Amino acid sequence: MEPENLNCRPIGFVSTTVAAKFDAGHQPDPDAEETNRVTLLPEPGYELALQDLAGFDRIWLVWWFHLNSTWRPRVMPPRGPAVRRGTFATRSPHRPNPIGLTCVRLIGIKGRVLTVGPLDLMDGTPILDIKPYLPTVDSFPESAAGWVDEVERQLAEAVPYGIEVFEPALQQLSWLREEFGIDFTERAFAVLRNDPSPHRTRRILRMQDGRLRMACGAWRLYYEVEDRTVRILSVGKGYSDERLAAEYAADITHGDAQRAFAVRWPEI
Ligand SMILES: C[S@@+](CC[C@H](N)C(=O)[O-])C[C@H]1O[C@@H](n2cnc3c(N)ncnc32)[C@H](O)[C@@H]1O
Repeated sequence: MEPENLNCRPIGFVSTTVAAKFDAGHQPDPDAEETNRVTLLPEPGYELALQDLAGFDRIWLVWWFHLNSTWRPRVMPPRGPAVRRGTFATRSPHRPNPIGLTCVRLIGIKGRVLTVGPLDLMDGTPILDIKPYLPTVDSFPESAAGWVDEVERQLAEAVPYGIEVFEPALQQLSWLREEFGIDFTERAFAVLRNDPSPHRTRRILRMQDGRLRMACGAWRLYYEVEDRTVRILSVGKGYSDERLAAEYAADITHGDAQRAFAVRWPEI
């Protein structure tokens, strides 16, 4: 008989500095100098189950996209042209069973806590399982990668867009950095250099006045494109004044910065 529901439960949780989806990589950035933690629950046997894992350079984390509640049969991947692909041909978070799979560098193990390298998981993500990465079994570098090969080829050939930042964006971005330590420009500009055109998954839309707007987590970047140059015009906040004023808004991402921004730039 086929079971209708299969039960599983978290064995632990991830701690990272990534609180907004926008700030998480689409896959781990191998060059990032970040360290993260996976803490297993204090269940009998979990510490013993980590025995002998220390000799492995890399491990697989099997995890749950706990912030997603829906799935779609076709999705628009964030890189490349605005084309929808079958969900099972992508690594999209929107899947019938929202299970993520990430290969990470294992840095150390102490008790029930694993220190690991760069991740694409958000803070608090539930971990379902850990397995050692076996290069002899898990690595096939010569394998064809379908539409992804094609996108990689196009991106490698494309001339990147230049970025120019104008006032008031210049002042707003340095204010956010200095007052709140917020800086989303590295990720945002990397996306815009590749392709600043409207795209649902990249959360870029054209506004009625012709400007383009990209959502960067809790913030918005307004820009226009001239030839191969992206002209960054201004920054906006992602939440309305009403939403920021509501009592239940205490846990809004960058809520304090958004409120202060509304006072400093009330017209945006
Ligand atoms: C494209 S998925 C790839 C995940 C995994 N490496 C895989 O291939 O299954 C990575 C993205 O998932 C999103 N994400 C990370 N943690 C999440 C969570 N707990 N719930 C929902 N989305 C999450 C972030 O936007 C991140 O950029």
